[in-house]
Amino acid sequence: MRITFLGHVGMFVETRHGSVLCDPWFTPAYFGSWFPFPRNDRLDVAPFEHPDFLYLSHLHLDHFDPDWLAAHVDTNARVLLPEFTVPFLERELRALGFREFVRTRHGERCDLDGLEVTILAFNAPADGPLGDSAIVIGDGETRMLNQNDARPGSAAELVALGPFDAQFVQFSGAIWYPVAYDFPPDEMAKLARDKRANQLDRARQYVEWVAAPHVFPCAGPPAFLDGDLFALNDLDDADTNIFPDQLVFLGELADHGITSGHLVVPGSIIELHGGECTVSHPDEIAITEPFRDKRAYLDRYRADWADWLAAERAGWSSGRHDLVAELREWFEPLLARAPITSTGVGGIVVLQTADEAVAIDFVAGEVRAWAGEPVVYRVDVDRRLVEACIERHLEDWVNSLFLSARFRAHREGAFNEFVMTFFKSLSVERIDHVEACYAMVRGDADEFFVRDGWRIERYCPHRQADLLEFGEVEGSTLTCALHHWQFDLETGACRTSDGKRLRCSRIDP
Ligand code: FES
Repeated sequence: MRITFLGHVGMFVETRHGSVLCDPWFTPAYFGSWFPFPRNDRLDVAPFEHPDFLYLSHLHLDHFDPDWLAAHVDTNARVLLPEFTVPFLERELRALGFREFVRTRHGERCDLDGLEVTILAFNAPADGPLGDSAIVIGDGETRMLNQNDARPGSAAELVALGPFDAQFVQFSGAIWYPVAYDFPPDEMAKLARDKRANQLDRARQYVEWVAAPHVFPCAGPPAFLDGDLFALNDLDDADTNIFPDQLVFLGELADHGITSGHLVVPGSIIELHGGECTVSHPDEIAITEPFRDKRAYLDRYRADWADWLAAERAGWSSGRHDLVAELREWFEPLLARAPITSTGVGGIVVLQTADEAVAIDFVAGEVRAWAGEPVVYRVDVDRRLVEACIERHLEDWVNSLFLSARFRAHREGAFNEFVMTFFKSLSVERIDHVEACYAMVRGDADEFFVRDGWRIERYCPHRQADLLEFGEVEGSTLTCALHHWQFDLETGACRTSDGKRLRCSRIDP
């Protein structure tokens, strides 16, 4: 098996039974906020344009790059489709001209004339843009796990698909929390420090579970080249920066005695044969330059993309919209269909622009001008970005506005997942799906386990991680190691997010 790394988590996998192009990403994403790091804009992509198969893990725009796919990928490629419960990925790919789809089943191996493919599909409302996935590719001799940025909630399920010769895993931040919030500086530093440590720990834990002899950090960090965002880059390996680079993670692995990690950059080639692995790089500069003086590297990268960025910003909006009226017409019918989501939000979310503030009232089910009432969330944002979301009728503002980090957020209290779920479900089809998911989870089977004197429900109320594996009990606190949410075992209340509750009780001695 030969794997050419294309940057971020893009890769071209060649086997004796066919080739698979995975998540090629070249076009800056999220209103020009994210760029691949290290840069891949000089890569000769011609050798990757005619794959036998195409795999796109999910629709986030640093994985699904429609412009690049349309310009470069032969639509005769057969698409390896995760078993998503919504058809959005297939629909997007059909619109690009792809016609042949291999419909996989979650966790079931498919044999494609010798090429073995297994896709894990994650379908909770919080998973990616309503769906995320990971893929296992084998050729009878070698098997690799491209875990991507998916967070499987069961180590046992992952391990059962092995053994693996190689694992690709995300380790760096891919979110706007906490950097886009208006937390006071001390709190911000603490939250960011915790976030960085938690995501590195989680990735290391996956590496330990999977126990592949070769590990490749991927799927981040992005580079932020726009002047408004440049400070988000981890230029100095600060322990309060949530976007550590590949060398930081490899150092973290080494600190824990794990020596299986390899650095790859766009153009690196990994050869896996008979248990042996060799990694070669395009040249010495490609492997050292991005990390030696990152500021200088990013400055050059930014200068090269300055014209593109200026055009991107100029294209955000082409006219002035009546925000209240247009969002009322769009959102109120959705609020009416979303009783569980609305109850979960339980208040007002405000979109505040320089000259107008829109209140989305999840209790009253209405959209109106904000009159200064208390809010659950307030998002201060450039009006042109909201207008762009309206003009393009973007049904997933998480996969556009929020991942751009081009806003300032204020929240009262803990994280509220329902707010973000609503903003990724801005169509009847999407919100109906999300409501059905929540209704199903509510009626879930009762499975409990006992640990340290507590009877605890087995699956985490956040994203159903198996708490037998991910639950850590200390005193009367349970921490789910998947996203580090904490629950008070005395009351079941979630300390990390409003509206979530763990069913648990103390066992009488
Ligand atoms: S699944 Fe996310 S914290 Fe448990």
